[in-house]
Amino acid sequence: MTDSVPALEARRLWAAYHQQPVLEDISLSLPQGQWTAIVGPNGAGKSSLLNLMIGSLAPLRGELKILGQSAASQRRAGSIAYMAQQERMEWDFPISVRDTVLTGRYGLMRHDSLWQRLLPRQWANPSHRQAVEAALEAVDMADHAARPIGELSGGQKKRVMLARALAQQARILLLDEPLAGVDPPSETLILNTLERERSIGRTIIMVTHDMPSARLYADNVLLINRTLVGMGTPDEMLSDAMLARLAVGAREALPGGERVAA
Ligand SMILES: Nc1ncnc2c1ncn2[C@@H]1O[C@H](COP(=O)(O)OP(=O)(O)OP(=O)(O)O)[C@@H](O)[C@H]1O
Ligand SMILES: [Mg+2]
Repeated sequence: MTDSVPALEARRLWAAYHQQPVLEDISLSLPQGQWTAIVGPNGAGKSSLLNLMIGSLAPLRGELKILGQSAASQRRAGSIAYMAQQERMEWDFPISVRDTVLTGRYGLMRHDSLWQRLLPRQWANPSHRQAVEAALEAVDMADHAARPIGELSGGQKKRVMLARALAQQARILLLDEPLAGVDPPSETLILNTLERERSIGRTIIMVTHDMPSARLYADNVLLINRTLVGMGTPDEMLSDAMLARLAVGAREALPGGERVAA
């Protein structure tokens, strides 16, 4: 697969729950290797867009390709790592921080040889453990690795779930509000980590309400309010005029046509 294949390509994409549309007629193309921030008000359909991208929500209409293939097949192939806005996790389950992050590698373990899968953990393929330790370091949770996840604060849990996504070393990182509820030092750490991921060619798609971070770090901003209100550089999209348009969900903001990130 060449790098010229878009990371994401949506054509006249619609999404709905119980036949009630929540996203309408979205067409866009995102190249690989860029950092895109998705911005929009509560209920705008941002998480739903990510659910389409991981194949857990089927389009009502239209087409979505991830790296040229269906979202579900790319998820299965390990090309997409995803961090949900709210993890459906059993936080009281007695599992350590380290083992929680390791669950991010389970899909990849399918590619290990059978004997590696059957070995005790300390003898298994070392790449899993290395990826987990690197991800824990990246979110500054290495010191908490042995603790049960149930003991962690909300911000720490968020950092662990981000580490779980990072440990997958996927080509595309889909992150739903990774900065919500984390303290300023952790936020800086996370943003620097994501910047490093981008610098090695990974594609980052991040839902956020944090405009200063989107302005500083993102290559592209998608403004979403049920439909695509705008797409462009942070300077273009995060202007007062565009944000005012976003608030009303102006459909006429960008009439028709496909939006392609620069
Ligand atoms: N599982 C579901 N069943 C029915 N309706 C849903 C479901 N999930 C989301 N919705 C509805 O779809 C719309 C878009 O929700 P979504 O979670 O995608 O918004 P969002 O932009 O991520 O909002 P927020 O900023 O609050 O996270 C909302 O009206 C929401 O109530
Ligand atoms: Mg959401």
